[in-house]
Amino acid sequence: MTDSAAPSTAKLTIGDKEIELPVLVGTEGEQAIDIRALRSATGAVTFDPGLGNTGSCESKITFLNGEKGILRYGGYPIEQLAEHSSFVEVMWLLIHQELPNAEQHESFTHHVTYHSMIHEDLKRLFASLPKAGHPMAVCAAAVGALSTYYQKAGPQTAEQNWIDAIRLLAKIPTIAAYSYKHSIGQPFMYPRNDLSYAANILHMMFATPCEPYEVNPVIAKALDLLLILHADHEQNCSTSTVRTVGSSGANIFASVSAGISALWGPLHGGANEAVINMLESIRDGERSAKEFMELAKQKDSGVRLMGFGHRVYKNYDPRAKILKNACDEVLGQLGQTDPLLEIAQELEQIALSDSYFIERKLYPNVDFYSGIIYKALGIPSDMFTVFFAIGRMPGWISQWLESQQDPDARITRPRQIYQGSNERDYKPCTER
Ligand code: CMC
Repeated sequence: MTDSAAPSTAKLTIGDKEIELPVLVGTEGEQAIDIRALRSATGAVTFDPGLGNTGSCESKITFLNGEKGILRYGGYPIEQLAEHSSFVEVMWLLIHQELPNAEQHESFTHHVTYHSMIHEDLKRLFASLPKAGHPMAVCAAAVGALSTYYQKAGPQTAEQNWIDAIRLLAKIPTIAAYSYKHSIGQPFMYPRNDLSYAANILHMMFATPCEPYEVNPVIAKALDLLLILHADHEQNCSTSTVRTVGSSGANIFASVSAGISALWGPLHGGANEAVINMLESIRDGERSAKEFMELAKQKDSGVRLMGFGHRVYKNYDPRAKILKNACDEVLGQLGQTDPLLEIAQELEQIALSDSYFIERKLYPNVDFYSGIIYKALGIPSDMFTVFFAIGRMPGWISQWLESQQDPDARITRPRQIYQGSNERDYKPCTER
C-alpha cells in the first residue's frame, strides 16, 4: 500500500543554503528523506547516535511497524507463520521472499539436513577452549572458523554464496550443540538425517551414546516455534553488524560470526538469559518484584527490567504475545509449573500499570517470555542466546545476500563529529 499523500521532496535550510532532498516511500508507506547529496551540497552530515532515525538500506525481507505491533516476513504476518509454518519453510521464505512450493521445500529440507556434519578437524577447536567459556563466544569462534574450511579465491558468486548459506543453516545446530556438549564434558553426538531440524538439535544436545534418546514431539514443536519467532527482525544490532562486515567484502562466515558476537550483548539477544537471572533473583528472595521494579525506574541503579522495551516497538511486541500464550500451553503439555512464570506475569502487571513504563511505551519484548519456554524445554540458560542465534541465522543470511546484490550498497563508513583537541605541536616527554 503506497501513501499517495507522501511528499516527493523535503526542503532543508542550513545557513543561507537551501536544498531539496528526495523522499523515498516504502511499500507500506514509510517515508525516508534521501540525504545522500547532503554533504556534497551543504558540507553538513546528519547526527544520529544509535541510528534510530536512519534507514541504512532498502529491504524486501521483513516489515516491522513498532507503533502498531506488526511483524511480517515477506508480507506474511508472524501470527500466521507461527501457527501454520515451520522453521525450515521460514528460512526459505526469508531468503527468497516467497514461500517454497512442494518441490523446493523437499529439496531445501534435504540440503539443510544433509550438510549438517562439521569437518572432524573443527571438533578440535571446541576442545581447545575452556569448558566454562560462554557458548556464544564458542559459536562465534566456530562459525568464523568455517571460513578456513570453505576458502575460495576471487569474487564471491551467487552460486557460491548459496552453497555457503546452506552450510551455515545446516551446521549451526551442530556447532551450537557441540558448544554445549563441550561445556559439560559429554561426547559430541553426530546429527541424524532422519530427524526434523528442531528434533535434530534436541538429539545433538541431549542424546548420549549410552542409551536411545526419544525426542519429545511437544518439545520439538515448541522449539520450532521459538526459531520461527527469532528468524528475522530487519535492521537490528546484529543484522546491521552482519551487513556492515559484509559491506567490506568479507565472506558470509566472517560476517555472521560478527553477528553472533553482537547478538550476545544483554541489550540484544543476551536479554533472554538476563531475564531468567532476574526472575531467579526475585524467586530466591534477593528482592521482591515491587522492589525490583522501583530499582528499574532509577537510572543510577544500573538495573533495567530485562525483556522490556524496544527501539522500534512502542506497543506489545507481537512475538512476546505469541510466546506468552505458548508459555501456558507448553508448560501445560509438559505437565510443568514454573514459579518464574508467575513472577514474570507479576512484573508485567506492575509495569503495564506504572506511569514510568506507560509514558515510555515499554512493553514486553521477545525475550521476556522466551526464557521460560527454553527452561521448560530443558535448555540451560547460558544456551538461550545460542538458540536465538540458531533462529536468527536465516535472517542474517538473507540480509547478507540481499546486501551483496544491492546496486546501491557501499562499504559502511559513517561520519563523526570530532570534539577533540584542535591542532597542537608535539612536545617531548620531558616537556609535558
Ligand atoms: N527498564 C527500565 N527502563 C527502561 C527500559 C527497561 N527495560 N528500557 C528503556 N528504559 C527507559 C530508558 O531508561 C529511557 O528512559 P529516559 O527517556 O527517561 O532516559 C527510555 O526508557 C528509553 O530507553 P532507551 O534506552 O533510550 O531506548 P533504546 O531504544 O535505546 O533501547 C532497549 C532499547 C531494548 C536496549 C532497552 O529498552 C533495554 O535496555 N531493554 C532491556 C534489555 C532488553 O530486553 N533487550 C532485548 C531487546 S528485544 C530483542 C533483541 O533485540 O534481541
